[in-house]
Amino acid sequence: MAVSRRLDFSVGNSFFRNPWAPASTNARDALGPIFNTNGCQNCHIKDGRGHAPEDGELNRVSLLVRLSIAPSPGSQPLLPHQRVIPHPVYGDQLQDFALPGGIAEGHVRVSYEYHQVTFQDGKTVELRKPVIAIEAPGYGPLSSDDHGNVMMSARIAPPMVGLGLLEAISEQDLLANEDIDDNNGDGISGKANRVWDVEQKKIAIDRFGWKAGQPTLKQQNAAAFNGDMGLTTSLFMEESCTATQKRCHEQMAGEHPEVSDNILNKITFYSQNLAVPVRHDAKEGKVLAGKHIFYDVGCVFFMMVGQGH
Ligand code: HEC
Repeated sequence: MAVSRRLDFSVGNSFFRNPWAPASTNARDALGPIFNTNGCQNCHIKDGRGHAPEDGELNRVSLLVRLSIAPSPGSQPLLPHQRVIPHPVYGDQLQDFALPGGIAEGHVRVSYEYHQVTFQDGKTVELRKPVIAIEAPGYGPLSSDDHGNVMMSARIAPPMVGLGLLEAISEQDLLANEDIDDNNGDGISGKANRVWDVEQKKIAIDRFGWKAGQPTLKQQNAAAFNGDMGLTTSLFMEESCTATQKRCHEQMAGEHPEVSDNILNKITFYSQNLAVPVRHDAKEGKVLAGKHIFYDVGCVFFMMVGQGH
């Protein structure tokens, strides 16, 4: 990497690592009005993944909860294939913190249901399913007669390595692997997800997030600034307060965008260039056995695409 770009990488790293403050504390910052935490690294711990809370514990940061409802019959979702829309009051993500004097959207408590699963060879394992409870909802009940039941999706922060490689895969290669009706009979029916690409102003294939919810790293990062920390960028100029969250609107401060393109681009450069760590114990029996299964079930096919053949 050229020396100047090394500097961009470490500047990007410091914006990823360092906490942001509310505008009242530091003129440069503008955390909030509602947010999940004050720094990227609090969730993507040391550039790695977050972790699930213990049974019955209040969520501690690295899990976030996405919210949605079914669109009312006859309404027009933004994109024709959309089956869910953001919650009309709480938006598409629960923010469990607010600035002093503000109103947080609620607290997330996770408990688990345990299920025994038996494999074909008779071996049993125990799986656990998270049950999410939102305590002290700040803006009224989440489910209501007006909009029906809220749907909740718990997401753990994924690791940050190797994302530039995923972004480099061409749309054609992704589409070549689409197999909506499982025509090749391997039991896997992949379908590309599509969302709105804010910069390109067109529908694009999604790549990032657990359910492929963002098309580019830049947009993913801008959405993280906005949704997780209440910081606007040129891609998302509106704070994450919804129309009826009055206190949230009253606490909006500062000029938009709160995060400059320069910072957004540096953090994006950082996220595009975090390398995949060297493999451990690649020659060990257990690892090799796993490798065989990986090849047998067809994962390697996707890996070849990933390497940009
Ligand atoms: C509150 C915790 C939290 C914070 C803070 C946070 N993230 Fe994330 N991040 C997540 C979660 C959870 C996901 C998965 C989202 C999904 O599936 O919808 C994610 C996904 C991502 C991804 C996509 C990774 C992949 O494998 O597809 C990137 C890149 C990312 N975040 C960057 C950032 C940046 C940059 C910041 C700071 C500006 C940030 N995140 C702050 C929790 C967080």
